[in-house]
Amino acid sequence: MSFAGRHVVLGVSGGIACYKSCTIARRLTEAGARVDVILTAAAGEFIRPLTFEALTGRPVLGSLWDPGRALAHIELARAPALVIVAPATAHLLARATMGMADDFLTALLLARSSPVLAAPAMNDAIYAHPATTANLRTLGERGWQFVGPETGPLAEGPSARPGRMSEPETILAAAHRLLSGAAATAGQGRWVGKRVVVTAGPTREHLDPVRVLTNPSSGRMGFALAEAVAARGAAVALVAGPTELAPPAGMATTRVETTAEMQAAVQALIGKADALLMVAAPADFRPRTRAETKRPRGAGGPVTLDLEPTPDILATLERPKGCVVVGFALETGGDALAKARAKLQNKTLDFVILNDALEPGAGFEVPTNRVTILGRNGKQVDVPLLPKRDVAERILDVVEEAL
Ligand code: CTP
Repeated sequence: MSFAGRHVVLGVSGGIACYKSCTIARRLTEAGARVDVILTAAAGEFIRPLTFEALTGRPVLGSLWDPGRALAHIELARAPALVIVAPATAHLLARATMGMADDFLTALLLARSSPVLAAPAMNDAIYAHPATTANLRTLGERGWQFVGPETGPLAEGPSARPGRMSEPETILAAAHRLLSGAAATAGQGRWVGKRVVVTAGPTREHLDPVRVLTNPSSGRMGFALAEAVAARGAAVALVAGPTELAPPAGMATTRVETTAEMQAAVQALIGKADALLMVAAPADFRPRTRAETKRPRGAGGPVTLDLEPTPDILATLERPKGCVVVGFALETGGDALAKARAKLQNKTLDFVILNDALEPGAGFEVPTNRVTILGRNGKQVDVPLLPKRDVAERILDVVEEAL
């Protein structure tokens, strides 16, 4: 991963995750970037500027009030290819949302024209607070890109909710993608300004208050596509079923549980959409009746479930003219191509993305996928086994021809 000749500003705000920012600064420098680090006052309480100066070989920017620095934030704002904010604390995000300019970093964030990539990091309750959610959404609408946060141990102990900053390698990979994408599409990307609805994850149907019918979809492929299409400049509306993974930050996300709820959410959003990426794996059946209380185990004999089909969202959707519709076909062998082509016709899709749930490294619950893209126009593109985010990029490269 080369950053040769690139000028990157690394803004560090004051959270414990800023010890990882040292690695980011170091790796960027080693990869050939010129790195200017800006520390907020709070970050300066965690790490001394000297550390970053030694790692980047460049002076570190802190106060707006240092002699000789009167216009430094404006000068610096002109130059960089990318501004990375890592960690981005809740406080920094709030100040940026408000357009405050009370220190070097926030002033630069207002003055810059280059893309911003932020890595949120905070306590899980703070991340889940509606104020933080609203700030992330506003910044996302203004074009900020986000990486993480992830679920994992926080400084204060274990947590099952997102808040932890992504690892330096993940942040660097996102930065690299952003810079390559920006170079490739520079202002003329076909996704810029488009409204795209993305669905992700499973749905589940209750048998009773404690038992559900569902499938192992993790949401990874849908989240990867949502993130990738947002990175290409589209306004993304994400509809997500119940997943352990946190949806990407900075986009309008509707959480649903059942297939009928997903159908209603997609129908409500589709009117203004330029494209629908239907990545979700909705449950196809639901119990004809849902028991109000837990069904007893009984005498241990066989149990018969009385099921009815759920709505086929794609088949029943009322879509605006010109909306590009992409479906996924999850198959388990046996003439998968023919089955996927049938879905292309029966569900009136522009593209169908075929993946085989039984193939090692593809399908549910794994970070990689191998897919075949089939177009209504007869086009067929085989994508090799790759991380889901890279698969997402390949899919967008093909689908954008139809926009
Ligand atoms: N899909 C949908 N509504 C459903 C089920 C699936 O809109 N109730 C969408 C999926 O999001 C996917 C496409 O239809 O984009 C194909 O899903 P898949 O599970 O492969 O096919 P099914 O339509 O469920 O058909 P089958 O189970 O017979 O393969």
